Amino acid sequence: MESPYDVLGIDADADEDAVVRAYRRRVKEAHPDHGGSLAEFERVRRAYEHIAAGRDPSTFEASASDGEPGTSAARNGTVRDDASAADRSAAEEPEEEDEDALGPTVEYLDYEAVEAHGWELTDEDLFEKAAAADLGVDTHGLLVVDERETLLEAAERYGFSWPYACRGGACANCAVAVVEGEVEMPVSTILTDEMKAQGIRLSCIGEPVTDDLKVVFNIEKLPGLAELRLPAEQFNARADD
Ligand code: FES
Repeated sequence: MESPYDVLGIDADADEDAVVRAYRRRVKEAHPDHGGSLAEFERVRRAYEHIAAGRDPSTFEASASDGEPGTSAARNGTVRDDASAADRSAAEEPEEEDEDALGPTVEYLDYEAVEAHGWELTDEDLFEKAAAADLGVDTHGLLVVDERETLLEAAERYGFSWPYACRGGACANCAVAVVEGEVEMPVSTILTDEMKAQGIRLSCIGEPVTDDLKVVFNIEKLPGLAELRLPAEQFNARADD
């Protein structure tokens, strides 16, 4: 049976830092543009969560790559490259680590799951609870943001359909709550100072400026933000003109 440590390419006695570093590296390798797939991404995420939760390695099941490709069809969107998930050999030598080359790593969580489970954005253990809930990769997981890429662009590169409308800082459809880390927006936006102070950012123009972030997306229906929403159809219609 495959060990979660094999999935991350580390020894079974690796310490916590080594596990996190390996996780970040493997997430990048699992990206469809780098020869991986969302199925592999799910497998890596499961391995990390199995280790992080202190579970018995012998009980690890990489079920997403074994029989559930596409468990995670992105909400309102498509998922790339599920069927072509080629499991990497556990014996394959990992690429040489280059921490500097790895972009910011974003752990994301869909607000719908927060609501459905009765959690709060302010819960200190929000992402730990999400990890324990074994949510699909469209709802909870990791993505790596490339240089000069916005958060929304990165999510779309992974095949996710996060909400948006104007893509220019003029609405709140693409709003996310940054729970940990920082996302900078280059221009003044429709968001109030109070919203910004609460960690609300616009994913369409926001670029991560810290190595690790935790972000809740799909928050556009929250009070205050709902009034700033624009009908996405209006922009789709323009795009079709
Ligand atoms: S989509 Fe309108 S501000 Fe991002």
